[in-house]
Amino acid sequence: MLEIEINRNSTIPLHQQIFEGISDRIRSGGIADGERLPSIRVLAKKLGVSLMTVVKVYERLEKSGFIIRIQGKGSFVNNDMKASMKTGYEEEKYGWQLAISDYVPRNRFDHYFTPHETSYQLSVAAISPGLLPNRYIKSEIYKTLEEHPLILSKYGPIQGDEELRYTMSKYLHKQNIHISPDDILVTSGAQQGIDLIARTFIGPGDVVVVEMPTYSAAIDTFRNRGATIIGVPVDENGMQMDILQNVIEKYKPKLVYTIPNFHNPTGHVLSDSRRRKLLLFAEEYQFLIVEDDPWSEIFFEKAPPHPIKSYDSHGHVIYIKGLSKVVAPGCRIGILIANGILLARLLVSKANVDLGSPMLTQKVILPLLDSERIEKHMEKLRFALKLRRDKVTDILSANLPEGIRWTVPKGGINIWLTFPVTCHTDDLLIECRKRHILFLPGSSCFSEEIEKNHLRISFSFLPEELLEEGVVKFCEIVTGFMNK
Ligand SMILES: Cc1ncc(COP(=O)(O)O)c(C=O)c1O
Repeated sequence: MLEIEINRNSTIPLHQQIFEGISDRIRSGGIADGERLPSIRVLAKKLGVSLMTVVKVYERLEKSGFIIRIQGKGSFVNNDMKASMKTGYEEEKYGWQLAISDYVPRNRFDHYFTPHETSYQLSVAAISPGLLPNRYIKSEIYKTLEEHPLILSKYGPIQGDEELRYTMSKYLHKQNIHISPDDILVTSGAQQGIDLIARTFIGPGDVVVVEMPTYSAAIDTFRNRGATIIGVPVDENGMQMDILQNVIEKYKPKLVYTIPNFHNPTGHVLSDSRRRKLLLFAEEYQFLIVEDDPWSEIFFEKAPPHPIKSYDSHGHVIYIKGLSKVVAPGCRIGILIANGILLARLLVSKANVDLGSPMLTQKVILPLLDSERIEKHMEKLRFALKLRRDKVTDILSANLPEGIRWTVPKGGINIWLTFPVTCHTDDLLIECRKRHILFLPGSSCFSEEIEKNHLRISFSFLPEELLEEGVVKFCEIVTGFMNK
């Protein structure tokens, strides 16, 4: 029987809560292929809501492709929808596991498995290993083990290595952020920063506002805490403030999550005036801002405006800086900055999760951050990535059919493509996979009102020859797909 929790005290309408509950279970495999949903009458009775509420939910589920309604027979989970989410596990052997319920709200399992070796991985939002300081890291590992022979035999501080926190506090002066090393918590990547914030401050029924679209794993993380997620559309200057204001007044969010610089997935930059406005809203309505900033250093024209954190005087902003994108994803190092009692609470969560990030990799990246070398490295990345962006946008311009638009990011690593509304990129992905091409379907970047006519490609990960080849092939497949 379908188990859905609804919160009658929430400001989120019941039909929306029920819609999210059912669509999440369909995505996660919690409702089996072709399974029949309860009738409108039965579900309305079970949840104690009106028939009209459930009618509205089923209509929306059908419109979004989650279910098929057959006159006189009932409503069934749409197999096609699930087929695109399948992971290829051995159904005969492990099929029984579907009966084990999970609390992962939106399992896009396929995103997390390592793709085929020969894939053109336009989906990976990371920088090509060839552009990262590999030799430096290798030699630093040896050096660190020489200097700290017991480093792997001891726990480190939960808050993170003191020297690294000090170095990061200095590094962030360049961004006009002036904080003490005591305000920093070292995390295992930016992703853990988001998760720690969610598990510390977000519980069932809390409202989290995100950009629409946004980083898909952030949606999953907040949703996993039972949050109701409201998306605010972005334009070339980032999150639209008039819409945000309406959302704030209506839903009273506890937290707004933003990626202001070269936003994932669109590449847009939140303008300086909007940054200031967002902070004013946070002060007036007393909510938290989570500012996730993985690639402000990777700009192709001019540096983006200073972070919101740089003018946050009352600790409304928790700033996250991951080092995966620009230094070494395998080190799994990021930091978050939080002031006042927020940091102490986050520290408790960090202790609960892993008792501190590995000291070896914290020590290994330290000298790089503490030297001129980091600036040279960033310059090299800016140069190389700009060439790649230009190459890819040239190929798109020359080869894509009419009717498709894309962003030309002024930094970062992602291009966001928008197709005519009738083109579903989940379906295009099935075609592309056959030729070992992967991209990120836009549907995963929306929390609700999913738009299926977008996709993201990252121009940073593949070696240059493969990148060109992959994008040309991608354009061929798109052309065929659009002509079908
Ligand atoms: C906006 C954003 N935040 C956080 C992360 C997670 O990065 P990390 O590897 O530092 O955990 C990513 C990764 O793609 C990202 O795009």
